[in-house]
Amino acid sequence: MKITIIGTGYVGLVTGACLAELGNDVFCLDVDSKKIEILNNGGIPIHEPGLEEIVARNRAAGRIRFSTDVEASVAHGDVQFIAVGTPPDEDGSADLQYVLAAARNIGRYMNGFKVVVDKSTVPVGTADRVAAALQSELTVRGSDAHFSVVSNPEFLKEGAAVEDFMRPDRIVIGCDNSPQGEKARGMMKKLYTPFNRNHERTYWMDVRSAEFTKYAANAMLATRISFMNELANLADHVGADIEAVRHGIGSDPRIGHSFLYAGCGYGGSCFPKDVQALERTAQDYGLNLLILQAVEAVNARQKEVLGNKILQRFEQNLKGRHFAIWGLAFKPNTDDMRAASSRVLLGELLRNGATVAVYDPVSMEEAKRVFALDFSDAPELLSSIRFATTPMDALDGADALAIVTEWKAFRSPDFDQVKTRLKQAIIFDGRNLFEPGVMTEIGIEYHGIGRSVLTRK
Ligand SMILES: NC(=O)c1ccc[n+]([C@@H]2O[C@H](COP(=O)([O-])OP(=O)(O)OC[C@H]3O[C@@H](n4cnc5c(N)ncnc54)[C@H](O)[C@@H]3O)[C@@H](O)[C@H]2O)c1
Repeated sequence: MKITIIGTGYVGLVTGACLAELGNDVFCLDVDSKKIEILNNGGIPIHEPGLEEIVARNRAAGRIRFSTDVEASVAHGDVQFIAVGTPPDEDGSADLQYVLAAARNIGRYMNGFKVVVDKSTVPVGTADRVAAALQSELTVRGSDAHFSVVSNPEFLKEGAAVEDFMRPDRIVIGCDNSPQGEKARGMMKKLYTPFNRNHERTYWMDVRSAEFTKYAANAMLATRISFMNELANLADHVGADIEAVRHGIGSDPRIGHSFLYAGCGYGGSCFPKDVQALERTAQDYGLNLLILQAVEAVNARQKEVLGNKILQRFEQNLKGRHFAIWGLAFKPNTDDMRAASSRVLLGELLRNGATVAVYDPVSMEEAKRVFALDFSDAPELLSSIRFATTPMDALDGADALAIVTEWKAFRSPDFDQVKTRLKQAIIFDGRNLFEPGVMTEIGIEYHGIGRSVLTRK
């Protein structure tokens, strides 16, 4: 099928590459000419395992191309996926300016029937706004071309995006019941047939329910994380081990083991903004989502937990202290640092007078970019950050190591070397990678999240 992807970011590029891999003829559009140039030169603008190979293979086969040419992109695809960003507006609602701009572009140039697919995460009711924006352009042109707006939210996880797209748990598609909606349903069914060979994974529903499903899923996952983080903080006080508790409750099939890890808070481009946007949608209808307000507040507090533990351990005085940080990305296998907990920790350490050496396997370049933004009010603090070349290199002379991202490379370090390189053998583990008892045996002072019972003397 002829497919256009509007927005060649994490979601758009993965969607385009995977649909090309299945034999479709894909046109990827972006307004960012630098991104398109990188792609056209054989590069890849993001870190995502497996993506580079798929893009290269399909470009060579002529099944995927990258361009900034809007008119050509509209002409190409019978199905037009909108996969542009929906960042939070000042009031926390989803900013739809990019989605609506993409819709207007389609209306400006389309001639025949188009299926317009909202793949971006968008609030309930957005499909109607996309249809109105597109129709207004058609009206200006006096065109009677037909279209149907479909909701097909994306559930891929950064770091496993290709695998998730190729082997989805579910495909959610919302269509309306008009004749155009029925036609769109048929085309979407055909497009997704290869994903349903083993068993049917598609959940067909109305458009608003599909839009809602994406927010409900992210809000539920964020809730589980904040719930465990709140319990972990209590566990630290009462002398229980949150890891034991996690196993104890996760074994109940009604609860399950996934997404029950306590840590130093969730980040990324999705959970923080989607929780906020759902709250805003509720407020538009005069409702307050009390659970989600708490989820957000708990998470904001949790991002400060590592910094607070460090301050407490060093008697509230970090002047002249030096720390190592392992992990800057908001989670492993991505270079994405949007709303990453590392940024909060770094702020707490530097603004309290400490110096820091940081290491991340893939986000070092991104880190330089975001730290410059984070410290634009105090650029002199940037000179207190050293970008280390290896995890061990980051440790030299540090008063403690703080672990923020659970990269595999950090899971089994050479602890003898860790102890030798650190000035003081102290670890603040924001992801509970290690066993407190083992750390004590090795001679490392260990501070996890919700695990103080095991390190208590
Ligand atoms: N990143 C994820 O893990 C993930 C997962 C599921 C859903 N989502 C949702 O998918 C959407 C996209 O997220 P992302 O992380 O891929 O964003 P991104 O910022 O990585 O990519 C968006 C791209 O859209 C481009 N763009 C903006 N306006 C455009 C226009 N009018 N025409 C063409 N291109 C345009 C931007 O230049 C950018 O390259 C968001 O709504 C997000 O919430 C993201």
